[in-house]
Parts: sequence; structure tokens; C-alpha cells
Amino acid sequence: MIVVAAGSGTRLAAGAPKAFVPLDARTILEHALDGVYAARPACVVIVVPEGLTEPATRMARSRGALVVHGGDTRQRSVAAGLAALPDDVETVLVHDAARALTPPAQFAAVAAAVGPGVGVIPALPVVDTLKRVHGGAVLAPVDRAELAAAQTPQGFPKEELLAAYALAAREGVAYTDDAALFAAVGGAVRHILGSEEAFKITTPHDLERARMILSSSSSAERDIPRVGIGTDVHAFASGGTLRLAGLDWPGEPALEGHSDGDAVAHAIVDALLGAAGLGDIGQHFGTAHPEYAGAHGDVFLARTAEILAEAGFEIGNVSVQFQGNRPRFGARREEAERALSDALGGAPVAVSATTTDGLGFPGRGEGIAVTAIALVHSAR
Ligand code: CTP
Ligand code: MG
Repeated sequence: MIVVAAGSGTRLAAGAPKAFVPLDARTILEHALDGVYAARPACVVIVVPEGLTEPATRMARSRGALVVHGGDTRQRSVAAGLAALPDDVETVLVHDAARALTPPAQFAAVAAAVGPGVGVIPALPVVDTLKRVHGGAVLAPVDRAELAAAQTPQGFPKEELLAAYALAAREGVAYTDDAALFAAVGGAVRHILGSEEAFKITTPHDLERARMILSSSSSAERDIPRVGIGTDVHAFASGGTLRLAGLDWPGEPALEGHSDGDAVAHAIVDALLGAAGLGDIGQHFGTAHPEYAGAHGDVFLARTAEILAEAGFEIGNVSVQFQGNRPRFGARREEAERALSDALGGAPVAVSATTTDGLGFPGRGEGIAVTAIALVHSAR
């Protein structure tokens, strides 16, 4: 998905590039990304004005987005975003950051309707009576039944959109949206029903409207806490020393794993990321992040707490239970709870343990299984 946010916002005239204008405690771009990420895109490229790539990269770090700088027209900005997309992407959605309150379902509906040779745009019927005018004169009525107001995200098969952009660049032709550019090379474009909430923040009045929508909905939504669940299973290795729940366990064999195998810490990481809707452990700490190979669970926990804080979440509490014959937890429960809580920056963590009556792999002593749940809430 490409999110274009490189415009200057001339018509808004709010003293900063439009995407960086605040709606509440957060900017237009940050709100736009909430909707984008709620739709679980495989990859997001944010296109921002030159000179703002660094702050945007910091802001987008916890989300894992790529940030590139745009051009002097929307078309050039989209082209910059397209150039940064990974090769394996098949469907591209291009979205205006200025449509900050676009509902997540609109992204999913557009993506689902894209097919070979077919682009898709969300659009709304036009409600006003329309006139063709010239200067001060009204020339003729226009049949609004034939018209629709286009929104974003607009979705296309990537290879065909790339080809269309390459051609438009060669011919030096300017288009106002991606659908027009795609259609100009013979692509078919279909429309699905857009939504009122996806309006584009263009004028100061639009900004007021967006702020009012947020202030009326957010006071109710903000206070609803969110829960997440995480599980992890690791086999015992033949040697080494066990690292579990943030503690060393001399005399107990280590667990297998890409990192230290601390299944208690890993289950908590997944529960926290899940609660905040920020992905999972593989995405943030997996094999694509070699800097975490062999890392201790505490490092994962500390970084997870940071990721949540950057996204505006506070941790309420965490409860975690492991199933296994060993280690014997009773005597070290408080120590483990303290270690895990410290790693999370102080949030309460409760640890419990149970055996499985000899059943299954934990009962046979082959490994352990851990389940964690976490509660988080908005810090604002
Ligand atoms: N956009 C962009 N690069 C440009 C121009 C526009 O990435 N050179 C993006 C904007 O950031 C916005 C979207 O395209 O998210 C739609 O453009 P528009 O609403 O026109 O935004 P601006 O160009 O910033 O506003 P204005 O036309 O009032 O200056
Ligand atoms: Mg513009």
C-alpha cells in the first residue's frame, strides 16, 4: 500500500504540510495510518515531503512502514512510492493521507475487488444538482446520475500500474488520479461504494469537520481497554541452561529457539502486540531481524513496551501461565514476576504454572507451552 502524504496543503493553509497538521494529539498522517494498518496490509510505503522523511520514519518505526520522499505533483509522489514497493507485491492500493478517517473496511473492499487488468476505486454518488458554467453564466444542467465522486484507496494490479506510470512519465502526461492514469493505457476501472468518512481534508472547514468527528467518537472509544492473547511452545534442548520468565535456571536444560527460547517472554510479547493491534513477534523480532538472534526475552519485552508506547498504548496488566513439568516455579514466582514487570517498565505481571497430569508433550517433559493475555489501553 502506498500512502501519499507529500502535498503542501496550500488550500488548508495550516502552517505545515497537510499530513503533518494535528487533528487531536495526533496528525492527519497518524490517523490515516490507523485505518491503513487496521486493514493489515503486507507492506506500507509512506510518501512525505523532502526534509520530513526523518521525523516520518521515527513516527512510522513501530509500524514497520517504509518512508520515501515525494515529488512536486501527486503523480510524481505516487511514482516514488511505487519505486519503493517490494517485488513480491501483486496488488497496490494508493491512498491519500488527507483522507484520514477512511474506514478500514474500505481498504479491504477495494483490495478484494481488484483483478487482472481491473482497477478499483471507491466513489460516492453526487448529491448536489450540477451545472456546467462559464465565467458567471450557467450554461447547462449536468445529469448527476452519470457522475460519481472518486475517493481513495484506489487499487490496481501492480505490474499494470507500474507500466501505466512508466508510460505517463515517458509521455509527460499529467493525471489527477491513479484511475485516470490506469484507464489511459486501456485498463478497466470499476467503482464500489465509498463512504462519507473517507472525505478528503482539503479546506479549513474539512479540518474542523474531521476534528469534530474525532472528538465526538473518541471520548467513548478511547476508554475501552483492549485485550490480546499470545501462546508459545518450545522444546527442551539437550544441554545449555534454561532461560525462562526472565530468569536463569541453573541445572535445567535450555529451550530451543531463534533467540534465548524464553517462551514466557515470547507469549507475553504476542499478547501485548495483539492487544494493541501492532502485529506479532515474528514481524518485529523474527528472522528478518538478525539483530535479535540470541537476544534475551527481556530485550523483546522492553522493545515491545517501547513499540506500544510509540503507538500511544499503556500496558494495564499481563497474566501468563505455562504448562510443563519443570522448572518448579513456586519458589521463584515473585522473582520472575518482578523480572518480567521490570522489563516491561513496571506493568504488573502475574505468572502461574501447571503440569498436565503427564499428558501431551509438556507431560512427557519434551517442552513447555505458554499462554499469556494482556490488557492495554490508550495512553491519551
Ligand atoms: N500529494 C503528494 N504529493 C504531492 C501532492 C499531493 O503526495 N506533490 C498527496 C497529498 O499529501 C494528499 C493527496 O496527495 O494526501 C491528495 O492531494 P491534495 O488533497 O491536493 O493535497 P495537497 O496537494 O497537499 O493540498 P493542496 O492541493 O491544497 O496544496
Ligand atoms: Mg494538491
